[in-house]
Amino acid sequence: MRERIVSGMRPTGKLHLGHYLGVIQNWVELQHKYDSFFFVADWHALTTKYDSTESLKENTLDVAIDWLASGIDPDISTVYVQSLVPEIAELNVYLGMITPQNWVERDPCLKDMVKILRSKEGQNSQMSYGLLGYPVLMSADIMMMNATHVPVGIDQVAHIEITRDIARRFNQVYKEEFFNEPKPLLNHCSLICGLDGNKMGKSFKNDIKISDTEEETAKKVMTAITDRSRMRKTDLGHPDECEVAFKYWKIFGTEEQVAKVRTECEKGERGCADCKRQLGTLINEKLAAIREKRRYYETHIDEVKDILNEGSKKARTEAQKILTHVRELVKMY
Ligand code: TRP
Ligand code: SF4
Repeated sequence: MRERIVSGMRPTGKLHLGHYLGVIQNWVELQHKYDSFFFVADWHALTTKYDSTESLKENTLDVAIDWLASGIDPDISTVYVQSLVPEIAELNVYLGMITPQNWVERDPCLKDMVKILRSKEGQNSQMSYGLLGYPVLMSADIMMMNATHVPVGIDQVAHIEITRDIARRFNQVYKEEFFNEPKPLLNHCSLICGLDGNKMGKSFKNDIKISDTEEETAKKVMTAITDRSRMRKTDLGHPDECEVAFKYWKIFGTEEQVAKVRTECEKGERGCADCKRQLGTLINEKLAAIREKRRYYETHIDEVKDILNEGSKKARTEAQKILTHVRELVKMY
């Protein structure tokens, strides 16, 4: 059997270049090599945002549109919505029963999430039972398809460790080598920083969205941090200290383009404003095809819904096979 990957993303709304370069591009490559399952993790969104669900539907669609526009091919990958595969919730119950409390409590990602939650909602914000169970739910997502590999960022590797532990424990408790112990597949793609040099993120207002217009993109790129010591064009520049703009050149430009920018900058023959204007044009060129596809899906939203419904049906069929065996192993009625 072909090796299988499962990966998901929370429905945070329109995605940015960090998602595209760091995650989606990787999925797009992997889908040709693995039997691939990609889902919108809408239950996971509830672990922290159970009380602000106004945009959940719209955000779910937006994430799916960005994936499709970026090249996730629903003819070869299964694209679905977590909550449309209720089998995951049932598996979550069985996994929850065999997971020792301290395994979830020591999850470092969870500790970070609690910190973020506290900073937003104050010291009194309580960790919910659902949030505490996040690593178990994530394990259910992965084990539901009996994945062999999980493409994730480095920040999620601790979760996959728990999944491996839970899978091993299930196999021990119910005395069959049924579940794979899935391995993380680390994204090898370049990490793109935000326009201000910090991590790119929607809430930091330093992102470029896949869905931004060319004008918006050009305008945003003009705000990218450059070599701070440089005042005018004739000042000799230091591309390696150009915090954001030159880094973007290295991500989007060809080797020749980057070499040219470097030489001209170092010789004081290139002004930062011009440099960033060119950079904006280059980024827009790179995104043109994706954006065109995005506009297509935006205006054919029923097609997107069909893809998600079809994908969810396919995912359910797979999930039901696995769940049937799990119920047998656990000896349910
Ligand atoms: N926890 C992941 C994130 O916040 C999303 C996610 C949920 C996921 N379930 C998953 C990723 C299963 C990979 C596999 O980004
Ligand atoms: Fe950066 Fe370009 Fe300015 Fe050089 S000219 S400092 S590479 S923005």
